Amino acid sequence: MKHLNFKNGDKMPAIGLGTWKSDKGEVGKAVKTAIENGYRHIDCAATYGNEAEVGEALAEVLKEGIVKREDLWITSKLWNNAHKSEDVIPALKQTLKDLQLDYLDLYLIHWPVAFKPGVAFPENDEDYLSLEEAPIIETWNKMLEAKKEGLTRHVGVSNFSATKLKDLLSKTENGPEVNQVELHPYLQQNSLIEFCSKNEIHLTAYSPLGSGDRVDAMKAPDEPSLLENKVIKKIAKKHGASPAQVIINWDTLRGTAVIPKSTNEGRIVENLESTGVKLDEEDLKQIADLDEHFRYVTGEFFVTKGNSYEDIYDEK
Ligand code: A2P
Repeated sequence: MKHLNFKNGDKMPAIGLGTWKSDKGEVGKAVKTAIENGYRHIDCAATYGNEAEVGEALAEVLKEGIVKREDLWITSKLWNNAHKSEDVIPALKQTLKDLQLDYLDLYLIHWPVAFKPGVAFPENDEDYLSLEEAPIIETWNKMLEAKKEGLTRHVGVSNFSATKLKDLLSKTENGPEVNQVELHPYLQQNSLIEFCSKNEIHLTAYSPLGSGDRVDAMKAPDEPSLLENKVIKKIAKKHGASPAQVIINWDTLRGTAVIPKSTNEGRIVENLESTGVKLDEEDLKQIADLDEHFRYVTGEFFVTKGNSYEDIYDEK
């Protein structure tokens, strides 16, 4: 299994299990199945609403001796309603309580967007804090404090553009160690990869398989399917692999981590077995040509008229 290396010698397994959209009643079993089948990296977040069940599963595998805590890599994320300095560490402690852990391996600021404390999801402009009310550097400094206190071994961000990373890096000596973003063959993120590599920031690819189980996907029946893409299917056939395995393997070859979500035992195993696929130059060239800067997660849910977060990805 490939790993991404950190300066202190820690290693993040390149393939992790995603838990976004994994329903309660299923997520615990998925986590247990994944760990029993060799996964060592689980990606969580407070807003997924399922950390308590993930915690139950982690407690079981640790108690049963299937894995040791130090061999697991557990990531979680600070939700947008806890960006205020005084709210960061309590939010992290709640996640630790839910996950039944003493420390995380990685804690990320989930979005460069702040909601008012108590707002789970914004309904109007009044539900947001402005950039002046919740400066990202203040949230970041608390993340660093959490690391110093040993509540998490590493800290990073998610959904940050190069512009936002640059801004944060200009204000701190200790920048994010990881940026987790949407990344797949339709959104290859080449310039962000280059920026992050120059600044020693690892990338994790979310929605690697196109997140066809998003609520928004039901509303967008015409959005392009990655797993049904003809080129991906042809390459998969050539290697006797599945389309998902081709994509996951492509991610790890490019040096990012990748967190495919599944609650199905066969697919959980299949996704980890993608390490066996051997993509060649021609395959990589054909996949490179699929980039069309297409996002499944548009961030539109944060765009309310006139708030400070309209251009969330800094692309306008
Ligand atoms: P399921 O959980 O039933 O396996 P993403 O990781 O991009 O968010 O995509 C998750 C979606 O992809 C889920 O609908 C998940 O369904 C599905 N999925 C996960 N692994 C595979 C696979 N190997 N083949 C096909 N679909 C998969």
